[in-house]
Amino acid sequence: MAGSGAFVELLEEDVYKYYFDGEWRKSASGKSVSIINPTTRKPQYKVQACTQEEVNKIMETSKVAQKAWAKTPLWKRAELLHRAAVLLKEHKNPIAECLVKEIAKPAKDAVTEVVRSGDLVSYCAEEGVRILGEGKFLVSDSFPGNDRNKLCLTSKIPLGIVLAIPPFNYPVNLAVSKIAPALIAGNSVVLKPPTQGAVAALHMVHCFHLAGFPKGLISCVTGKGSEIGDFLTMHPGVNCISFTGGDTGIAISKKAGMVPLQMELGGKDACIILEDADIDLAAANVVKGGFSYSGQRCTAVKVVLVMESVADALVEKVKAKVAKMTVGPPEENCDITPVVTESSANYIEGLVMDAKQKGATFCQEYKREGNLIWPLLLDHVRPDMRLAWEEPFGPVLPVIRITTVEEGIHHCNASNFGLQGCIFTRDINKAMMISDAMETGTVQINSAPARGPDHFPFQGLRDSGIGSQGITNSISMMTKVKSTVINLPTPSYTMG
Ligand code: G3P
Repeated sequence: MAGSGAFVELLEEDVYKYYFDGEWRKSASGKSVSIINPTTRKPQYKVQACTQEEVNKIMETSKVAQKAWAKTPLWKRAELLHRAAVLLKEHKNPIAECLVKEIAKPAKDAVTEVVRSGDLVSYCAEEGVRILGEGKFLVSDSFPGNDRNKLCLTSKIPLGIVLAIPPFNYPVNLAVSKIAPALIAGNSVVLKPPTQGAVAALHMVHCFHLAGFPKGLISCVTGKGSEIGDFLTMHPGVNCISFTGGDTGIAISKKAGMVPLQMELGGKDACIILEDADIDLAAANVVKGGFSYSGQRCTAVKVVLVMESVADALVEKVKAKVAKMTVGPPEENCDITPVVTESSANYIEGLVMDAKQKGATFCQEYKREGNLIWPLLLDHVRPDMRLAWEEPFGPVLPVIRITTVEEGIHHCNASNFGLQGCIFTRDINKAMMISDAMETGTVQINSAPARGPDHFPFQGLRDSGIGSQGITNSISMMTKVKSTVINLPTPSYTMG
C-alpha cells in the first residue's frame, strides 16, 4: 500500500520496483519480499526479490557508469548532489511516512531524519569540492640521500563501485552518509537497503534519480539476504563496502575480498556518572540517550555506571522522567514506539527475564504488547547478568552501581564493543583523564553519546567497527591516493 504523496512511479501493482540503469524495474524472479509494519504487525509494503543475475547486470552497468563519472568535473558532481539534497527536503513528508510505517520511527523524528540527510548531502558536496580539489606536491631532496630531481604530485582517485548497506534504524540517513561521499569522490554506488526501511530508501533513491545523475551510476537492489546478501558482499565487481548494522558485519568482514571496509556494528555505550556530576543534567541525558527511538540506536546509552553515593538520586530523577514518557504508535509521536520486529522484542524480553531471575531491581513494571515494550530502568544490575554486556536495542536500560571510577572504566573497557561513552562530572581534568582511559571511538563529556553533527568523525573500537566515518573521513576512505612522479634530468644537467 502506497502512502499519500508517495512516488507512484516506483510501484507496479502493489510491489515497489528496484532501481537499475536509470529505471524502475520489476525483478525477473516474479517474487517479492514483505515488509511488516512493526505497529500493526501486518504486511505494509512489498519490494522486489532480485536475483543474482540481476546483481551481475547491476555490477556491469555500474562499472561502465563509474568510468565516465570519474571524469565528470567535481563542481558538476557537487551540483547534482545539491539538487538531490533539495529534492530530499522537498519530499520529506512522503519519505518520513514510509519510516513511520516500516520502522515505527516517531513521525517528528522521521521528518528530522530526512532533513538531516539533505543537509548531509549538501555538506558532502561542499566538503568534496574542497578536499578532492587538493593534492600534494613532494620534492625528493627531503629524503636522505636524494637529489632534487624528482617531483611527486598526488591526487585522490575513486575506488570504483561502492556497496552501501545501511541499517533499519536510519535507512535514509545512513544510506546517504555512504552514497554522497562515494558519488562526490567519483565512485558509483550499489545500495542494498535493509528490508525494514527499504521503501523509504527507494523513495530517497528516486530523489537522486530526479536530480539527474547519469544512468547506471546509482542502483538500488532489494531482496532476500539468503539469495543476494553474500552474493553482493563477495561480488568481484565491488571495490569498497560501507556497512552499518549488527553482527552480520563481522561475517561480511571475514568473507569480503581485498577491498576497503567501513563498518559500524553497534555499541554498549557506557554512561559514567561521578559524585560531583550535575545530576539533573545526567538524568536528562540518560533518558534522552537511553530511550530516544526506543533505544534502537548504536549510540544509545546502553549501560549507566553511577557512583553509589549519587545512585539513589539519579535513579529517582530518571524514574520520574520515565513515568512521563508516552508509549504508543509512531503516528502519534509517542516517545516509545514498537521495536522493529517481533524477534527483536523477544530478544529484549529474554534479557529482561534473565535480569529478573538474577535479582535486578525493576524501577517500573515490565510491560509488553506485541512489539511495544514500555520503557524500563533496571537498577542493581550486576556483571553476571546478560544486560550488563549485551545490546538490547530496545527501551530497556541497566544501571550498575560502582564504588570507584576505575570500576566504571574497567566495565566499559571489558565490553566487546567500543563505540562511544560519556562521562558526567564538573571536573574537566577528571573528565579528560577518564576519556583518555576509556577505550571507545568517541567520549562525550556532559552529554549523551551521538553520531552527529554528521561531519564529526565516528568510529568504534573492537567489535564496534572498522575505519572512521563522518563526511570527510568517508570521502577519504572511498578514494585512493594516486602519485605521478616527474623525473627531471640529473643535477649535472645544465639548462643554458
Ligand atoms: O545507530 C547508529 C548510529 O549511527 C546512531 O546515530 O545520530 O542516533 O547518534 P545517532
